[in-house]
Amino acid sequence: MQIIETFSPEETFRLGQELAAKAHPGELCTLVGDLGTGKTVLTQGIAKGLGIEGPVSSPTFTIVQVYEEGRMPFYHFDVYRIGDVEEMDEIGYEDYFYGQGLTIVEWADLIQEILPGRYREIKIEKDMEKGFDYRKITINEVTKPVPEWNERHG
Ligand SMILES: Nc1ncnc2c1ncn2[C@@H]1O[C@H](COP(=O)(O)OP(=O)(O)OP(=O)(O)O)[C@@H](O)[C@H]1O
Ligand SMILES: [Mg+2]
Repeated sequence: MQIIETFSPEETFRLGQELAAKAHPGELCTLVGDLGTGKTVLTQGIAKGLGIEGPVSSPTFTIVQVYEEGRMPFYHFDVYRIGDVEEMDEIGYEDYFYGQGLTIVEWADLIQEILPGRYREIKIEKDMEKGFDYRKITINEVTKPVPEWNERHG
């Protein structure tokens, strides 16, 4: 587990750029945190770090936004407004999650059951005692337990 503290949107953006520099095709990162914590700011840094120059905002009504012009494809999901995980099937999420690009999922806690066996969880939290622009960013490599193993031994 890695904890990074940032004190401005620019610092969070730079962290995104650094994460992008280390990213490999096929990786998936979830972004969790309350409204306005900086998920999109971090995503914009990641996009920039992959060499994507165009504007990157949250894909409000489309769930996924695809960017092909960077070092690798970039799939930006924002599932905040999703009603049911079936909507993810309808857009063919597996082609992205198990594809050759970098996938970012904002509000991933809403689609927990379809997340892959391994992914990187990035959690962003405020702490008003440390200032308005303070953010604590916790990065965790998640490996889901194997269900069959749990049934046999759990
Ligand atoms: N350290 C910081 N890191 C990131 N953003 C910060 C920081 N300090 C202040 N901010 C501000 O917080 C806001 C974060 O907005 P952003 O859209 O990235 O949040 P979000 O988590 O994507 O929210 P939503 O869930 O509504 O999409 C921006 O206005 C940004 O300027
Ligand atoms: Mg956002």
